[in-house]
Amino acid sequence: MTDLLDETELDSYRDRFAAHLSQTVPGRKEFVVGSASGCTLTDAGGRDYLDMTSGIAVANVGHSHPEVVAAIQRQAARYTHVNVYGRFVVPEQVEIVERITGVTGPGMDVAYLTSSGAESTECALKLARKYTGRPKFVAMERAYHGRTLGALSVSWREEWRKPFEPLLPEVVFVPFDDLEAAAAAIDERTAAVIVEPIQGEGGIRVPSDDYLPGLRRLTREKGALLIVDEVQGGMGRSGRWFAHQNWDVEPDIITMAKAVGGGLPLGAVISTPEIFATFIDPPLSHLTTMGGNPLSCAAGIAAFDVMVRENLVEASATKGEYLRGRLGELRAEFPEAMVDIRGKGLWCAFEVAGDANVVARAMQERGVLVGSVLNSSGTVRVTPPLVVTEAEIDRFVEVLRTVLADGIGVAS
Ligand SMILES: Cc1ncc(COP(=O)(O)O)c(C=O)c1O
Repeated sequence: MTDLLDETELDSYRDRFAAHLSQTVPGRKEFVVGSASGCTLTDAGGRDYLDMTSGIAVANVGHSHPEVVAAIQRQAARYTHVNVYGRFVVPEQVEIVERITGVTGPGMDVAYLTSSGAESTECALKLARKYTGRPKFVAMERAYHGRTLGALSVSWREEWRKPFEPLLPEVVFVPFDDLEAAAAAIDERTAAVIVEPIQGEGGIRVPSDDYLPGLRRLTREKGALLIVDEVQGGMGRSGRWFAHQNWDVEPDIITMAKAVGGGLPLGAVISTPEIFATFIDPPLSHLTTMGGNPLSCAAGIAAFDVMVRENLVEASATKGEYLRGRLGELRAEFPEAMVDIRGKGLWCAFEVAGDANVVARAMQERGVLVGSVLNSSGTVRVTPPLVVTEAEIDRFVEVLRTVLADGIGVAS
């Protein structure tokens, strides 16, 4: 849709959206989407916004990257969906998995392709249970792994879990970045510990340097697997291909989604051939119709190649430093509003003393998109496409300065 809509047409879309799309968030929708390119999102009325969210860590190569668009067009003209996982060889699946396993650790050579993050979590939980023959999972306070029943079982926030109980039995939550608590919870019944190497929806929280290596040691001691959830932190977001690579740790299972499909629905679970052998005994122990869809794989291949050619992983690290440095200037200017700055690479956040949603709304009114997170009320998420320029970061900082100067962000 390229034509601009007038007020009547915009209102009509809003009303029809409210009437026919299942609502999970109350209130009037913010705007009607028109188009998106690079770091700019344009509403259907023609107003531009600087996108510092990337559709929550999806548009890592920027919106509608020309090479991704061309790859989608080429693939759509050849074939889209042709079979249910497991029967034919789909070359695009081979190409994307070889690329991904080329940047994961040694031995992590096999992938199961999915369509979303929650689906990757489900696959990983099943894999861990079947491989170990054990029932229990250890998960983290503030964790988020998706909203399907299994993923919900290992996601922390109680108000979203309670109404759907009974969920998976034997899930124990322990505080993030607390090895003593983890040691007390991991035992001989534990199939796996599932952890986001840096917590995303928990507030972009970076653990101590000994935490992930410590979890690795504890899980090995008890014969449990270590699942790292890279759905949000993967594909260069943290300044490394995968967030756990910021530390010296080799997980058993890696889950991913979001940016891996270059904007199309694609997820992956990566593990060793030995662990994945469990899914063929009996045959069809796991199955999906749309997982690894060729169109999504083609977009993912193009996005991956853009990441490599444009050095976007390194760019994420250096621009992230620049962004946090600029935020530091604002923190010095407005210490009553901005109380913390966290992150690695362009996986970044700042904490306000007040409500993050109020800050995000004020930024949006001034033409910049940032977001809140699910499990940490004062956290403002700043996760721009990895192609963001220093000039765009400066623009974001100047707009944020005007918001903070108006007293927005202080405790109410
Ligand atoms: C760490 C993490 N895991 C899993 C998910 C679920 O992904 P999806 O929304 O694609 O199901 C998310 C989504 O935000 C996430 O941040």
